[in-house]
Amino acid sequence: MQEKIIGFLKQSKGYVSGEDMSGELKISRAAVWKYIDQLRHEGYDIAAVPHLGYKLEDCPDKLLPHEITFGLKTKRLGQNAMFLDTVGSSMDEAFRLGMEGAPEGTIVCAETQTKGRGRLGRRWASPKGKGIYASLILRPHFAPAQTAQLTLMTAVAIAQALTKISGIKIEIKWPNDLLVGGRKLAGILTELRAEMDQVEFVVIGFGINVNSTAQNLVEGSTSLKMETGNSFSRVLVLQELLVSLEFWYDGLKKQGFQPVLKAWKSNSATLKTRVRVTDADGVAEGVAFDLDDDGGLLIRQDSGVVIKKMAGDITQIK
Ligand code: BTN
Repeated sequence: MQEKIIGFLKQSKGYVSGEDMSGELKISRAAVWKYIDQLRHEGYDIAAVPHLGYKLEDCPDKLLPHEITFGLKTKRLGQNAMFLDTVGSSMDEAFRLGMEGAPEGTIVCAETQTKGRGRLGRRWASPKGKGIYASLILRPHFAPAQTAQLTLMTAVAIAQALTKISGIKIEIKWPNDLLVGGRKLAGILTELRAEMDQVEFVVIGFGINVNSTAQNLVEGSTSLKMETGNSFSRVLVLQELLVSLEFWYDGLKKQGFQPVLKAWKSNSATLKTRVRVTDADGVAEGVAFDLDDDGGLLIRQDSGVVIKKMAGDITQIK
């Protein structure tokens, strides 16, 4: 109902009477007042004038469901949204919803996370109200091994959307770090639930430093604000991301992985550099010269031997 009331207020230029809203939405005027009061607590600035009614003066830049879905130009992604002020990790909430059968495209957003996590057990700093901390549920008809494609696809989609919004050149460090001038702007974490040969659902988590400052972030990070000097509406950034994600996701399902690979390679910060990879097999060093057709990183060691890595931690060596 809150969503409907906000929609109503957003669509009308001037004041809307409580009577009109109660008639249209088939609720009592007292109920209208109750919802208006709730919306004010969420940060909406709603003026109320006797005999005229209500007018929306300002909206909070919070990733509330009705902010995300209002004017969102996607068919599925983000159309079912959930907001949490504080959560351990949005990944756990999304996973729980996935288990309960939430539809593809469901997104969980948090203002802050107390246990935001990154790849390889790292922590993800989630300063309150400064960034986008979101987990998206997808239900592709994929084999578990194909989920690496989704991670690379997400990196491409986010890089493109953020460049469109900010004009910044963003590079992708294999497999999924988004960098500006070598500093981390965003990270992606993919978790899945699958049978032996079929994915049930995938949760794609992304953390994006939007309006964060150096004090809010770990060393070596950056934000859209730090790079441009401007603040960004997190709602508009997320909407742009969702449009880009849906475009690339639909493309991946229809045309396969090649277009993603091509776009990934052209934004790569990793290819043609010397890297050190650490994974369960130990440490290996060489030149990262290409991505394989499944998204694996191909590295030529000094001995001439080529190895392929599907996961792991890479350090770029000057
Ligand atoms: C990485 O760079 O290692 C991945 C970082 C992913 C962070 C996001 S924030 C939203 C979602 N919830 C989490 O706990 N992690 C992801």
